[in-house]
Amino acid sequence: MAFPTNRPRRLRANEPLRALVRETQLSAADLIYPLFVVPGQGVREPVTSMPGVLRLSADQLASEAKEIKDLGIPGVILFGIPESKDPEGSGAYDEDGIVQRAIRSIKDAVPDLVVIGDVCLCEYTDHGHCGVLSDGDVENDVTLPLLAETAVSQANAGADIVAPSDMMDGRVGAIRSALDAEGFEQTPILSYASKYASGFYGPFRDAAESAPSEGDRRGYQMDPGNAREALREIASDLDEGADLILMKPAMPYLDVIRSARDVFDVPLWAYQVSGEFSMLCAAIERGWLDRERVIAESLLSIRRAGADRIITYFAKDVARNALG
Ligand code: PBG
Repeated sequence: MAFPTNRPRRLRANEPLRALVRETQLSAADLIYPLFVVPGQGVREPVTSMPGVLRLSADQLASEAKEIKDLGIPGVILFGIPESKDPEGSGAYDEDGIVQRAIRSIKDAVPDLVVIGDVCLCEYTDHGHCGVLSDGDVENDVTLPLLAETAVSQANAGADIVAPSDMMDGRVGAIRSALDAEGFEQTPILSYASKYASGFYGPFRDAAESAPSEGDRRGYQMDPGNAREALREIASDLDEGADLILMKPAMPYLDVIRSARDVFDVPLWAYQVSGEFSMLCAAIERGWLDRERVIAESLLSIRRAGADRIITYFAKDVARNALG
């Protein structure tokens, strides 16, 4: 049917009508908030390149967790910055490590808040790579048991979900076997299955002090030119036992999220990463973009592409303003 019978503007006439026919909505319940935990007491340290994001010491987490839960945000993902780093990233799998302590204090304070542990070595190695180095190369198979130990120690501390972000081959299987062997067969794995070697992680590496001191991550993270490869990565992680899939970055890879959504029926999440957050904040600060509109639009685009849930530094803003 054509104009004038067909008038798409009829359903755009006012906000109540637009709301009634809106296909995709945004709500705090769809969002997960990342937290950076640092050593010390009473620390609330701003991250320069991520306006509004704080690095918190463990004693700050109980009140932070309550606030997040009260805002209607269902979960957090934790990143730890240890007191000291070494070549094997031993702080990652220390039973009393920074993230393990953080998990305990959040679960004590707010048992209903879902706590996801990011499983990776990069914040804990003195060279900043996500695995153990040998002759400048990240050794895949030597790294697997260390990742598995990290996941087990997080589950042991009370993590509800473990989320490997290292991109070593075979890590999901290694983590699944280790969890099962230790009695954590009910702990789900959220696999960062399609994770690109991206420039958009820049601000995170400031926040987590995890930039590689030499080289880059192109030898283990995915090449930005590849979309079909993401589907193979996801399929193999599901084969190895992943329960949920995470894709990142989000906005520069919406096409990949859509393709994955069309193929896989598992929970599919996306991470709106630090660089996506910071570039919006920078333009908002200059008055070049309208804050509420672009935050909502950026997140809606990710939901529309097919992501069920989004990890985002804007989670609290969305919850507070009920954007979108
Ligand atoms: C690795 C990890 C990274 C991010 C999440 N987990 C950084 C990297 O791969 O360099 C990036 C998140 C962001 O940019 O917000 N542990």
